[in-house]
Amino acid sequence: MKKLKKYSDIRERLKIEVDKKTDNGLAQLTHYFQNHTNGVSQYYKNDAKEYLTGLHEKLNITKEPDFQYYLPIKWDIPFPPPKNPEFKFIDLFAGIGGIRLAYQNLGGKCVFTSEWDSYSKKTYEANFGEVPFGDITQIDETKIPDHDILLGGFPCQPFSIAGVSKKNALGKKHGFLDETQGTLFFDIARIIKHKRPKTFMLENVKNLISHDKGNTFKVIQSTLKELNYTIYFKVLDGKYFVPQHRERIIIVGFDNEYFKGKETFKFPEMGEVKFAIKDILLTEVDAKYTLSDKLWNYLQEYAKKHKAKGNGFGFGLTDLNGISRTMSARYYKDGAEILIPQEGKNPRRLMPRECARLQGFPDSFVIPVSDNQAYKQFGNSVVSPLMEAVGKNIVEEILKINGEHIKQSYTIGTEF
Ligand SMILES: C[S@@+](CC[C@H](N)C(=O)[O-])C[C@H]1O[C@@H](n2cnc3c(N)ncnc32)[C@H](O)[C@@H]1O
Repeated sequence: MKKLKKYSDIRERLKIEVDKKTDNGLAQLTHYFQNHTNGVSQYYKNDAKEYLTGLHEKLNITKEPDFQYYLPIKWDIPFPPPKNPEFKFIDLFAGIGGIRLAYQNLGGKCVFTSEWDSYSKKTYEANFGEVPFGDITQIDETKIPDHDILLGGFPCQPFSIAGVSKKNALGKKHGFLDETQGTLFFDIARIIKHKRPKTFMLENVKNLISHDKGNTFKVIQSTLKELNYTIYFKVLDGKYFVPQHRERIIIVGFDNEYFKGKETFKFPEMGEVKFAIKDILLTEVDAKYTLSDKLWNYLQEYAKKHKAKGNGFGFGLTDLNGISRTMSARYYKDGAEILIPQEGKNPRRLMPRECARLQGFPDSFVIPVSDNQAYKQFGNSVVSPLMEAVGKNIVEEILKINGEHIKQSYTIGTEF
């Protein structure tokens, strides 16, 4: 049997390192490495070859730039692709892969991923051995491989859908898809339209429902229905999986052409709140995480001022036996929303590893970036076990309807 090459050795040899200058070449190459025998390799092979040739020249590697020197690969990374995947998915607005982690745990193989932030890409590659493609608005939908599930926790940036929708309300000339142009939701919709995944799961902040008096969400729903999908949505709280109050809207769609309305999907029942903040705290904490007197005084003064105006508290001193507030991407600024009380000292902020735990990431998840970047990344991410709980019910539907067909038509050559 051919000796497998370790991914860590290839990474070192080819100097695979994500930084601000990283372009889609590295994405092509790593996507090909992960998908060289599973029926989607043609999407990546030519560009990956070209990139590899350029790399060999740049690094003065005298060997021919032939894939046979690299494949097959032993994936010595924290979250390798599953050996016998049961379905394929794509990971859009991937961040650091909180949704990918969930769907890999369910036996899925990621065949395409996109994320434009270079620090998030760095974390993603360190954990999954794959560099995401960049700006999704620049990616032609025909370049994306076929997949069973499309996943996307799209940014909660303000939408401009509603304005357009009002303008078009009288005598609507175009379909709803046109009304979403210029928004990132449009990019999700155009990919769904072209690729027709069997299902999708989208995630967003709870306020998406009420944004612009409900118009934004109405357009989103109408667009997805117009694409001939049956839509289910629900606001779910991560607190049943981790000690954090985090409400998010989850939108799930089933292709009517494929399921013919036969799916029996339900959102999972939420159990009991089982975890408390004290369960995720580390015992050894560097002094730098304790708030300075200046910052702690400022936060208290700020809270006092706002309380006097009847605006509630500005910071969240967490009850160690309870759950925390929602961690946001701005946690790096002062940590105000989740502060940990300490005996005889000012409170402290969470350490990045504790933030990872607060989102349900296992401790094997590598954090290769600065504290500030890590706070942003975990704050932007998801309660991964909640995604897995929803995903389990979606995957069951897919496997139930035509599971055998999927298994037969899809074998992956990645070896371990
Ligand atoms: C809410 S976060 C999703 C986080 C992800 N679910 C996770 O587990 O980490 C949205 C992500 O979309 C990315 N993003 C925003 N605009 C993008 C674009 N045009 N192309 C690709 N990624 C984009 C952001 O950098 C951010 O990481």
